[in-house]
Amino acid sequence: MAQFEGKVAVITGAGRGIGRETALLMAREGARIVVNDLGGGPQGGGSDAHFAQEVVDEIKAAGGEAVAETSSVTTMEGGKAVVDCAMDNFGRLDFLVNNAGIIRPRRLTDMSEEDFDIVVAVNFKGYFATMHAAAPHLKKQGGAIVNFSSPSGFGHYGMVNYSGAKEGVVGMTRTIARELAEFGVRANAVRPISGPSNMNIPEVYETLQYALDTLHIPPLSGHWIGNSGPDGRPWNVAAVVGWLCSDRSSNLNGREVYINGGHIALVQEPEFIRSQFAVDGWTFDKLCEEGTSRALTWDIRDRFTGK
Ligand SMILES: NC(=O)c1ccc[n+]([C@@H]2O[C@H](COP(=O)([O-])OP(=O)(O)OC[C@H]3O[C@@H](n4cnc5c(N)ncnc54)[C@H](O)[C@@H]3O)[C@@H](O)[C@H]2O)c1
Repeated sequence: MAQFEGKVAVITGAGRGIGRETALLMAREGARIVVNDLGGGPQGGGSDAHFAQEVVDEIKAAGGEAVAETSSVTTMEGGKAVVDCAMDNFGRLDFLVNNAGIIRPRRLTDMSEEDFDIVVAVNFKGYFATMHAAAPHLKKQGGAIVNFSSPSGFGHYGMVNYSGAKEGVVGMTRTIARELAEFGVRANAVRPISGPSNMNIPEVYETLQYALDTLHIPPLSGHWIGNSGPDGRPWNVAAVVGWLCSDRSSNLNGREVYINGGHIALVQEPEFIRSQFAVDGWTFDKLCEEGTSRALTWDIRDRFTGK
């Protein structure tokens, strides 16, 4: 028996890459799918309706049910249009997968306000817009939300807009998980590494190589995220999204899952380490005492403090 028989899924950015694979997988498992995709460029801008339609055609050819939707998720109207499409065509909504994304790698001093705003609009506000519209429907019978974060959120040289947005997605997901749990709706985040991707533009490699070769620092995260198994592929990530929507992961809510090819991991929740306590509260002078600084930092060698 297919896992998602009778269910309806909205998947944003499903015309290509990971979203496409997720749409195909969930349709194979019996879900009816809204394939949303604006079809713009990897850095934003432009539109092309044929990406969403191609995936719909593929699903239908395999005997599934799907409808194309080409709104941009960056506005509240766009988010609502995507969700309305599910209700108008299929009459219910069980799963929302916020996968749409763009990238604009620039160093902080080269990054314009527009570079920042457009990345935040797609990767962060766009997720709010769809969740805002979807929540009243999901609450009716329960369901699941899966939001796309990124390992870039751990810190990524040249990606202040993208890493900020993607880390924001995790905080937002933790909050939604708490708000919707009583209605049987779970919300989790995915941090994938997967190629090939439309987003793997030359600027990504330029900043990555500079950090590695010139600064000798890990460009992404606190250490190099290597891969001891096969390279991450979109279908590996789609499998995780499907699993997060299925009852098999019903004890997981408000959490993050990392996936890179053959490596899957639950990401640790942020926690306090090296707590120090001051009975009258911490002051600047007390913090500057040698003992306090030592207790908080003495064996930490920071790789980003300079050459
Ligand atoms: N590929 C990776 O290694 C990787 C790593 C970390 C995070 N991610 C995240 O995973 C998700 C999918 O990545 P991918 O590699 O499949 O990328 P992709 O570029 O292949 O697909 C993203 C899709 O989103 C669509 N999109 C962009 N802006 C949109 C908008 N405003 N409204 C609707 N659709 C829009 C694009 O048209 C595109 O088809 C993204 O959120 C990305 O940030 C990917």
